[in-house]
Amino acid sequence: MPFDPFRYAHQHRNEIAWLSQNTNHLVPPEVIGPALAEAIRERRYEGYPYGPGDPELLDLVARDFGLPGQRPFLTAGGTESLYMITRALLAAGDEVVASDPSYLIIHRFVELSGARTKNLDIYAPPYRLTAERVREAIGPKTRMILLIDPLNPLGSGYPREEVRAIAEIAHDHHLLLLNDVTYRDFADAPALAAEYAPESTITVWSVSKNCGIAGLRIGGFLAPPELLGTIARFNTNDLGVNVLAQVAAIAALGTKGDWFAAVRRQTRENGARIRACVDGVPGTSLPVYPSQANMMVIDVARLGLSPEALQQELLERHGVFVRAGNYLSPAHGKKFVRVSFSNPPRDIDRFVAAFPEAVRAVAHGVIAPAA
Ligand SMILES: Cc1ncc(COP(=O)(O)O)c(C=O)c1O
Repeated sequence: MPFDPFRYAHQHRNEIAWLSQNTNHLVPPEVIGPALAEAIRERRYEGYPYGPGDPELLDLVARDFGLPGQRPFLTAGGTESLYMITRALLAAGDEVVASDPSYLIIHRFVELSGARTKNLDIYAPPYRLTAERVREAIGPKTRMILLIDPLNPLGSGYPREEVRAIAEIAHDHHLLLLNDVTYRDFADAPALAAEYAPESTITVWSVSKNCGIAGLRIGGFLAPPELLGTIARFNTNDLGVNVLAQVAAIAALGTKGDWFAAVRRQTRENGARIRACVDGVPGTSLPVYPSQANMMVIDVARLGLSPEALQQELLERHGVFVRAGNYLSPAHGKKFVRVSFSNPPRDIDRFVAAFPEAVRAVAHGVIAPAA
């Protein structure tokens, strides 16, 4: 049986520095824990939640985004929204302008609808789409633009003017714009495409990363009422989204303003330590720094080593879980690993100790070991 890194990591989860899924381990435990404990004490899990979602939560999401005319919808993570949106709005033969690298799960959903993505290669500066390239890529079959901002896996963020220009293209060409803003709270100056093309934009949001509740599986999308109605026909959560997840999301979103700045500060400090470590390992480099999200890519192509082998070495020998690039880029996945870093400093200590050693071990025979 081939090595299954997730199985291994889950089996050893108490010993693993989990730097592989852009999850957030920095939210103060008192934000979520007591709210969940109370809901469990009240045995709220015995009943179904209110179908359309707790109005307090919907209100908090609407206020978090401040987009007049856009209504929030709840799903089991942003992932379910992405599935519903592609299913509801795309048909066989449609094209979606997207990128490579990208969060390829969305591309898979596009293909399930019979549509296809046109992946623009962005593994070169500025490591993101530009309005000019998006415009050039539009053809008669184009139905949607996929704008993931900040971008998983590279950590690139879109300047406001670029978001605006891409939104205007969507507006002018009557295209849909899928704006996935899962990591927006980590960015210096995030902009929302819906500010510029409100009638064509569907904004996918998540509380997995900013609020540190990925395991609870809650997120959603915002859209103008008519589009929302079209997408909502594909809702499978007719009986509502997990009640405990909603309780946790209310507790987190209601207080985010008090603690998120500290999460972001620690995330950036961790990123700087990883950068210093990578700078000290010849042949490895960071295409994008600083990341506007809580992850970035470490390029190892010059060493000619396999990212999967490096992932396995870091995990099995050092208990440090990073992700090989193959699931994030058909064209460049053999060149990088992705590391995420909204983690306590002790996890970063482990990474900076392990990375040089693991690179040397894997590259043995490919490059001369350091003196
Ligand atoms: C760009 C992007 N969109 C959506 C998701 C899915 O998030 P959720 O946990 O809300 O399903 C992820 C998760 O990594 C992501 O990176």
